[in-house]
This record gives sequence, C-alpha cells and structure tokens, in this order.
Amino acid sequence: MKLILGIETSCDETGIALYHLERGLLAHALHSQVALHDEYGGVVPELASRDHIRRVLPLIHEVMTQGGCALRDVDAIAYTQGPGLSGALLVGAGVGSALAYALNVPAIPVHHLEGHLLSPLLSDPAPEFPFVALLVSGGHTQLMRVDGVGRYTLLGETLDDAAGEAFDKSAKLLGLGYPGGAALSALAQKGQPGRFKLPRPMLHSGDLEFSFSGLKTAVLTLVRQHAFNGAIDAQTRADIAHETQAAIVDVLAAKALAAIKQTGLKQLVVAGGVGANRQLRAQLDRAATNRGFRVFYPALEFCTDNGAMIAFAGALRLKQDEAKIADAANHRFDVKPRWDLQTLTAGD
Ligand code: KG4
Ligand code: ZN
Repeated sequence: MKLILGIETSCDETGIALYHLERGLLAHALHSQVALHDEYGGVVPELASRDHIRRVLPLIHEVMTQGGCALRDVDAIAYTQGPGLSGALLVGAGVGSALAYALNVPAIPVHHLEGHLLSPLLSDPAPEFPFVALLVSGGHTQLMRVDGVGRYTLLGETLDDAAGEAFDKSAKLLGLGYPGGAALSALAQKGQPGRFKLPRPMLHSGDLEFSFSGLKTAVLTLVRQHAFNGAIDAQTRADIAHETQAAIVDVLAAKALAAIKQTGLKQLVVAGGVGANRQLRAQLDRAATNRGFRVFYPALEFCTDNGAMIAFAGALRLKQDEAKIADAANHRFDVKPRWDLQTLTAGD
C-alpha cells in the first residue's frame, strides 16, 4: 500500500492531497471558505458543511489530475475524523468511507491535531523523534512531547482561549476581518513598539499553561480609550496591533523555551495556523540560535488547515499498522467533534 488520498473537512477549508509513501507529496488542493463566512464574522457550521459537499469531489478530481493518478491507483483513504464541526467532519468522513468502500481499500480516520503535529515532517530538513511541539491553531494551544507517531504527552495547554482565538478576537475589535490573525500581524508591522503595554498572561506562572481570555478584554479597553465617535486613527490601530501580537508571541515563545528546558530535548516543532506568524518565527529562531536547539516549521501553506497533513498522517499510520488498518476495513464511520489528542496511542 503506497498511495494515500487525504481529505480534510473539519472546519472552513476543504483540503485534498495525494501522498505516496516513496515519492512523497504528489499533489494537493485547497478551497478556503473564508469569503463565505466573512460577512458573519465567524464560521457558520451549516454553510461550512454545504460548501464542503460542493467542493470535495471536484477537488479530489483536481488532485488526481495534478498527481497523474486515477482513483483505482489509490491504496487507502485518510480523512479527518475530528475534532471539528460535526456536519463538516461528516462530509469528509462520508465521502472518504464511501470511496474507500467502492475502491475496496481501507479508510483511515485521522485526528486533525495529529495532522498539524506531524506536518513539519513533510519539510526538508525534517525533525526527528523525540521533539517538543507547540501546537497553535484557532481552537488549540498546546505544548506536547512527541516521542513517535501516536506517542504524545501533553506538557501544558491553554486554560481558556487559544492563541489563534486571541489573534482573531483582537483583530475583530480592531475592525479587521475574520479570521484576523494574518491581518493583525500585517497591521502590526506598521505599529510602533512601546507605545502601549498589554499584559503577558501567565508568563511567570512557572508551568507550561497558557491563558489568553484576559488579553482581549485588555485590548477592548485600549480600543475604547482611543476611539473617538467609534473610530480609531490608523496609527493607533497599528500600535495596538503591534502590542497585541507582541503579548501573544512573548508568552508563546517563553513557554516553548521553558518546555525545551524542562524536557531537555533539542528540537522544537511549531504547528497550526499561528505557526505562520512571522514575529513568532523570528523570536523562536533567535532563541534557538542563542540556546542551541533547532526549530522546525511546516511550509507556510501547510500551517493552516490542509489535506496534505491528513494524507501524510494517514500514511504514517499505515506504515506503522498496515495489517491492522487493512483488517479493520469495514467502512463504517463516525466522527468525533471533540477528541483529546492524548487519548491516541501508537496503535490507534
Ligand atoms: O490551524 P488553523 O488553520 O485552524 C484550526 O485548526 O484552528 O489555524 C487558524 C488560526 C486562526 O486563528 C488564524 O487567525 C491564525 O491561525 N493565523 C495566524 C496567522 N495566520 C493564521 N495568526 C497569527 N499570525 C498569522 N500570520
Ligand atoms: Zn487546524
């Protein structure tokens, strides 16, 4: 079994990819629903599900053409089983399992965060197990110790909002679109450092936990203080964006360093949408040079949700458990909208 088709539909991106165990990533395609949800200021689950239904088969077709393969060449189908929006997950799970049944190949349910976590292994040079992973997405902020596929130990996580959520909620307060992480980061580049001072929540808590919910309240206070007739001048907006980004990144970088120190490991992997943040990358790169460890990032296009990471995680699972996966190929499926990464084991 060598060729794996990956299907990602957990939230607002339909991602499809073809991964070959020997030849690597052959093709991938993505449809982002950002424009569809923009006017609502957040993801509307029912619209997301319907759009996945529209996009999933044409994207599979596109990826097959791009990869120079036919459906009959596919040896296994990996789909995101969770966590995520249940209706959206059901589209990928349903299509993936039906295709697998029709082709008489196994379907491999994949944990979305495992996809993110392993995505830096798609790059060259790739990290080697064991490593520390900083998982920073729209819904999760976790530090994990990763000893192998399915061997994940939680070191610390957010007690409330995720880092991506902190970016998105602050961006909304500054009148940027949804999701606003990248826009806030772009605006921050025009901001002046030092004009404002926001809290760095739990920076000195002595553990590896995070808390970001207080930050948005502090941003809201700043915005209110500086708004005149509901408007805020361009430079002030940029200055607030700069300080917001600095506060989030300072905490993420400090806790990641503390995790490296605590575990004694020499490799840090950064995954998830916030991993695309340039300031975070610059700060971690600097620390890595100073302290003698290495940092690995997924390619920018694989930081946010995508099909490649699902095809790849499926491929690694297949490599590890081929007999078990082939055995279990009964094509029944379910989805897990809530699913703790730590409950995975090497043989799942
Ligand atoms: O991993 P992801 O695509 O989706 C989830 O699984 O949640 O992450 C999306 C999150 C959003 O909160 C988005 O604002 C944030 O990643 N993000 C960024 C940047 N690009 C995406 N945050 C900060 N800076 C960026 N450049
Ligand atoms: Zn994600």
